[in-house]
Amino acid sequence: MSKKLFIRTYGCQMNVHDSSRMADVLAPLGYAPTAQVEDADLVIVNTCHIREHAADKVFSELGRLRLLKEAKPGMLLAVAGCVAQAEGEEIQLRAPHVDIVLGPQTYHRLPEMVARASRSGGHLVDTEFPVEAKFDHLPPPSAHGQAAFLSVQEGCDKFCSFCVVPYTRGAEYSRPVADVLAEARHLTAGGVREITLLGQNVNAYHGQGPDGRRWGLGRLIRALAEADTVERIRYTTSHPRDMDDDLIAAHAEVGRLMPFLHLPVQSGADRILAAMNRRHTADDYRRLVDRLRRARPDLALSSDFIVGFPGESDDDFAATLRLIDDIGFAQAYSFKFSARPGTPAAALGGQVPEETKEARLAALHQVIAAGSTIFNQGCVGRSFDVLLDRRGRRLGQLAGRSPYMQSVFVSAPDSLLNTVQRLKVITAHANSLSAIIEQRASA
Ligand code: SAH
Ligand code: SF4
Ligand code: F3S
Repeated sequence: MSKKLFIRTYGCQMNVHDSSRMADVLAPLGYAPTAQVEDADLVIVNTCHIREHAADKVFSELGRLRLLKEAKPGMLLAVAGCVAQAEGEEIQLRAPHVDIVLGPQTYHRLPEMVARASRSGGHLVDTEFPVEAKFDHLPPPSAHGQAAFLSVQEGCDKFCSFCVVPYTRGAEYSRPVADVLAEARHLTAGGVREITLLGQNVNAYHGQGPDGRRWGLGRLIRALAEADTVERIRYTTSHPRDMDDDLIAAHAEVGRLMPFLHLPVQSGADRILAAMNRRHTADDYRRLVDRLRRARPDLALSSDFIVGFPGESDDDFAATLRLIDDIGFAQAYSFKFSARPGTPAAALGGQVPEETKEARLAALHQVIAAGSTIFNQGCVGRSFDVLLDRRGRRLGQLAGRSPYMQSVFVSAPDSLLNTVQRLKVITAHANSLSAIIEQRASA
């Protein structure tokens, strides 16, 4: 009998990817996805612990689900992801109606846990960092649509002083090159044309190559391009310290590598960068971007910023604004510093008042939005090959992503859905572009 699975996902792309892997691994047990939580026999909340706000959302969601579960006694409730990893015990205490708590490293054990929980009625916890690699125990992912994530690296050894990821995701691990190439072949055979290589610290990739040596990300990207199946390659998220010469050269040499790079810098003040344990200066970052742009002149960058890190002065914040001005980011995400339990930054003196954080965040938003507008306007008149993978907001409109990840809208018949078209950008908006079809590219 078919059962229904509902997954609510919070957090980063790794979690989005993990959610679809959990759905894949549960399919053989007869679970089919549903978009209606009320219909579900199994609900998974895949959680994020990165900021306080993200973790709080989990407990309010679990409160709502308690009511649903009372109305539907057979329903199983699982909490996965980084809050499960960091606060497994807290979840059991505060939300005893949760049947299964499992950390990101143990998704391959989910079918067994679900089977046991449905027999025994609940309370299973699995938040170990098991010795066996979960990748060796997961089935190949199913291809949905034409763009897919491929997880190549997990975990992080950087220990930025504000960040929970090294604790929730554990130590860095890179999958062997042969496994990555096999998964890419599987995805492209299923119709995927664009692959985003994923990792918490993806450019620290050092997987075992077929020659027995460790390969870096640049070499992996070349091998993927040479395999001649995937048309577009991206990777995320990178740390500035791990942009090595070979990876920079890959941006010059591999046409299939998209000219867009998310390279978080967090702050433009050296004092703050040091306190964050980022282990580079603002000028190191400027020089790195210069080298990347020499390699690939049409490269666009995006970043993450934290405002109100402990000890951040007005001058420090001004240095961040200067860096943004110097680099010219196509887009950026910004966050108020959130003191996370167990991280070194949470215990630092000089915590910044909430109003100051608010004011800096608002100022940062303005500067970032102005930068995006300039970047989007610079796209007017340019032509891009765009995969039209969805319908637009208006009737008779299709949409896709530019090489720079902006949404591009175009008037086009439904028959062009899921084709690549050469589009010419006509107008730029704050967060998207409008275009016309220039000529027919490959179908
Ligand atoms: N691995 C990635 C990103 C991890 S989390 C990297 O190294 O860049 C995504 C972003 O969340 C970070 O880049 C940072 O800007 C933000 N972030 C992480 N911890 C935070 C905290 N404690 N408070 C506020 N923002 C945080
Ligand atoms: Fe967190 Fe820093 Fe690792 Fe990114 S590099 S996941 S910010 S510790
Ligand atoms: Fe959040 Fe975990 Fe990703 S804390 S950002 S879901 S790695």
